[in-house]
Amino acid sequence: MEPVRVDVATPSRPYVITLGDGVLGHLTQLLDDVKAPARRFVVSSPTVWRFHGQRFAKATKAEPIIVPDGERYKQMPTVMKVYDALIKANAERSSTLITFGGGVIGDLAGYAAATYLRGIALVHVPTTLLAQVDSSIGGKVGVNHPLGKNLIGAFYQPHAVVADPSVLGTLPRREFRAGLYEVIKYGVTSSPTLFERVAKEHRAIFNREPEVLTSIIAEACRIKANVVTKDEKESGLRRILNFGHTAGHALESVTKYRRFRHGEAVGYGMLVAAELAVARGAMKESDRKALANLVASLGPLPPIGDISLKEVLDAMKHDKKMIAGRLHFVLPTGIGSWAIVDDVTEKEMKKALSRLGLKK
Ligand SMILES: NC(=O)c1ccc[n+]([C@@H]2O[C@H](COP(=O)([O-])OP(=O)(O)OC[C@H]3O[C@@H](n4cnc5c(N)ncnc54)[C@H](O)[C@@H]3O)[C@@H](O)[C@H]2O)c1
Ligand SMILES: [Zn+2]
Repeated sequence: MEPVRVDVATPSRPYVITLGDGVLGHLTQLLDDVKAPARRFVVSSPTVWRFHGQRFAKATKAEPIIVPDGERYKQMPTVMKVYDALIKANAERSSTLITFGGGVIGDLAGYAAATYLRGIALVHVPTTLLAQVDSSIGGKVGVNHPLGKNLIGAFYQPHAVVADPSVLGTLPRREFRAGLYEVIKYGVTSSPTLFERVAKEHRAIFNREPEVLTSIIAEACRIKANVVTKDEKESGLRRILNFGHTAGHALESVTKYRRFRHGEAVGYGMLVAAELAVARGAMKESDRKALANLVASLGPLPPIGDISLKEVLDAMKHDKKMIAGRLHFVLPTGIGSWAIVDDVTEKEMKKALSRLGLKK
């Protein structure tokens, strides 16, 4: 199967996502094609390197820079470790840093690339479904601060993204599912076809059949690429990528980022948004049901019955997506259509959250 190429044409840098079963085998060629400087460093995690490091043998001669990749390591001290290794290796301005891992590695090593010597070339080689369909595209890099998630960061577009679905074979099932909620997100906002494919091709997707995965991931990449091309720095359209994320982030934060994988919280968040939309008469109940069924079909989500509704509401009020004191909320208006509203009342939100089963 020929690799799929998806163009990302952000104003600050146009680049290509190359996607396909086995594309990692052509990494050196792909790096040469985009003129990525020849001194190439790779940042990866122990887990990813153990499973797939051998595939990098030809792409870089330098020792890999291995750093831990749990969410709690997405912090400045880990970025420091990357700087240390680059400085020790005398990495110059004309070097390339390749991130090889999930969203945590991509975000933190991408931030190191954006800031080391005021910026060296960056290439993402994402290894989780979430990173392949979401975090490697669009140029957001950064780390968490002990006082809050993703508070430190930059927009820094890569030279290329190379995504090989065959590496997803080793991904734990729960991580795989976490990425699928984001795929559903793209379906609800932008593509009824993608939405239906996740439902119909459920079996092939879970069997991780490379052809099916490649085309599903490609469709998700096209949607994200289109959005970030039109709105690189999140002043308008890019906000639709936050569908399901307002309540999702609040759920993650009140459970201290321990209970949910990010995508799972987004799974709940989409359901909250759909409840709200139906209550306003903006979405058909049958569409909400279709979404609820699809989310449920991926498997059980962690329980929420013990989470206080009030705490979730409070967390939402602190969301950094507040603009001038108003929460900009992505409302689904059908499968494949949306509206951004800024007049959601506390009462409406309470009702939607309680329908989901949060503790009153
Ligand atoms: N930059 C953005 O636009 C953007 C968008 C969405 C999410 N994010 C960020 O992405 C992060 C989450 O990323 P994630 O979900 O990929 O999590 P992750 O990077 O923590 O990876 C999840 C787990 O999977 C393991 N893993 C990775 N690839 C594997 C493979 N091929 N086989 C087996 N195990 C593998 C990792 O070791 C880790 O334990 C969050 O920090 C989030 O803020 C960023
Ligand atoms: Zn997300």
